[in-house]
Amino acid sequence: MDATDWDTRYRLAREAQAGQAGRLWSAVPAQIVQDTVSPFTPGRALDLATGDGRNAIWLAGHGWTVTAVDFSVEAIGEAVKHAAAAGVAVDWQVGDATTWDPAGETFDLVTVMYLHLPESALRVVLARAAAWLSPGGHLVVLGHDRANLETGAPGPTNRDILYTPVLLRSSVDPANLGASRVVRCETIRRDLATDPEAPGDGGATFALDTLLVVEA
Ligand SMILES: C[S@@+](CC[C@H](N)C(=O)[O-])C[C@H]1O[C@@H](n2cnc3c(N)ncnc32)[C@H](O)[C@@H]1O
Repeated sequence: MDATDWDTRYRLAREAQAGQAGRLWSAVPAQIVQDTVSPFTPGRALDLATGDGRNAIWLAGHGWTVTAVDFSVEAIGEAVKHAAAAGVAVDWQVGDATTWDPAGETFDLVTVMYLHLPESALRVVLARAAAWLSPGGHLVVLGHDRANLETGAPGPTNRDILYTPVLLRSSVDPANLGASRVVRCETIRRDLATDPEAPGDGGATFALDTLLVVEA
């Protein structure tokens, strides 16, 4: 899906939910993201493909200074509204995750949540993101695992854009990692009753995600 497709999806969701509190995704990050990030000392964070901002807003509410990027103008528009309602400030930027550049800035945390791209593009995004980490910083990546195709859980059904631990681990090329190291790379189980990606999903009781954590 290109930016226009995503704009349409966010706009239709907004119009369908007019007058209601509903949103396209959950209002808070996946529990595994909260659990992974909570022990880190807040500093400068970047949320790539932020969508309507649930990760960025949660981070800002937990003391992080956050820049958040998405190529959908509609998504960023929603994020701005949600941040205002939450009373937090985020540097929202419209940009393509494959080409956006932080202009020399580095980050204590880079998050990439449920960004599903063709493999070559994903490799570019993750390799660049890993290079922007400050010493001691972390890259946290989470997305739908390819094994999720067997669970009946919601999410993309094109296996070519789904994650596997092998794909994520190899996307952060050891040759480019310098002193960084992969500290976690695995398939994890997400309970859809308590930890949905999107409100209103029915059917399956759990989903499988791939988690990658890199420490600089
Ligand atoms: C499934 S949503 C996830 C949003 C958010 N990360 C979350 O977890 O709630 C995927 C998001 O990626 C964005 N996206 C897809 N391709 C992108 C790209 N090349 N550059 C920037 N954003 C992109 C879409 O606009 C959409 O908001």
